[in-house]
Amino acid sequence: MKHIYSGKVRDIYELDDEHLLFVTSDRISAFDVVMTEPIPGKGRVLTALTAFWASQLPGIAPTHLVSLGVPAGADLSAAGISRDFAEGRTMVVRRAEMLPIECIVRGYLSGSAWAEYRRTGTMHGEPLPAGLSQSEKLPEPVFTPSTKATVGHDENISFEQAARLIGDKMAAGAREISLEAYRWGAERAAERGIIIADTKFELGLVDGELAICDEILTPDSSRFWPADQWQPGATPPSFDKQPLRDWLEATGWGKVPPPPPLPPDVVEATSARYVEAYERLSGLSFSDWPGADGSPAVRPGA
Ligand SMILES: Nc1ncnc2c1ncn2[C@@H]1O[C@H](COP(=O)(O)OP(=O)(O)O)[C@@H](O)[C@H]1O
Ligand SMILES: [Mg+2]
Repeated sequence: MKHIYSGKVRDIYELDDEHLLFVTSDRISAFDVVMTEPIPGKGRVLTALTAFWASQLPGIAPTHLVSLGVPAGADLSAAGISRDFAEGRTMVVRRAEMLPIECIVRGYLSGSAWAEYRRTGTMHGEPLPAGLSQSEKLPEPVFTPSTKATVGHDENISFEQAARLIGDKMAAGAREISLEAYRWGAERAAERGIIIADTKFELGLVDGELAICDEILTPDSSRFWPADQWQPGATPPSFDKQPLRDWLEATGWGKVPPPPPLPPDVVEATSARYVEAYERLSGLSFSDWPGADGSPAVRPGA
């Protein structure tokens, strides 16, 4: 198995020309910096939630997911990981030609979009109604793409800028799939008392067709808020890495490596939030997921 890429969270191996093995680690990044400490359970939660959504998704678009787990013939030792480690955090996906944009959809005004709106009254360069508050529900969900920076931070762009990058037709297709998938996921989540304030899809071409790749509606790719604690004008507590970001902000850390060591209670609270997000959204128990109990949380030898 050839190692082809390690991102902030995933290690990716080539199985054959058409298939990749995705191994989702317990690494966590904040402000684009990977923390030193792993978050126990995180890689399995991300895998479980992506698998859950992919299994439910109606015919909006194909996903890249082929199967869960490590295929029988794969030689994991080449990747330096054990079966125990791989359990519950691995999936086989179709290799895609990824679009060079991130397909963000926003249903609520938060994060970088709120910061921009406060400055200029726009969101990704497009005008919004005046007088909106922080965390307010947008009149309707908006496709708000960003660049996919290989170095540094992604940059929010308008739909027209995205169309210039990938072509009008591809941009329109990506917008339609992203908006539909967001609306569908947000509706399911609302039934379970969770607001999906925004999310980021990564789309790619598989057999010449746009497919939903990467992770799907996870706490890493989305802002999840408990619906009963949402109120315009304030930032609700969240089921994602916001508490970690808040803790990091409070330390006064300059957001460049090396990150500060995370105290055990921050690691534990973050881990619990990821598990809670999975259980609330799926209605399933995380303890039933392969490897959820007992497997080593860190890569042997790391
Ligand atoms: N089906 C696919 N084929 C090829 N690349 C993919 C596919 N799905 C996701 N990717 C890419 O794999 C990487 C996933 O690893 P991750 O750790 O999340 O990386 P990053 O730090 O870039 O977010 C991303 O760069 C993503 O664009
Ligand atoms: Mg990623």
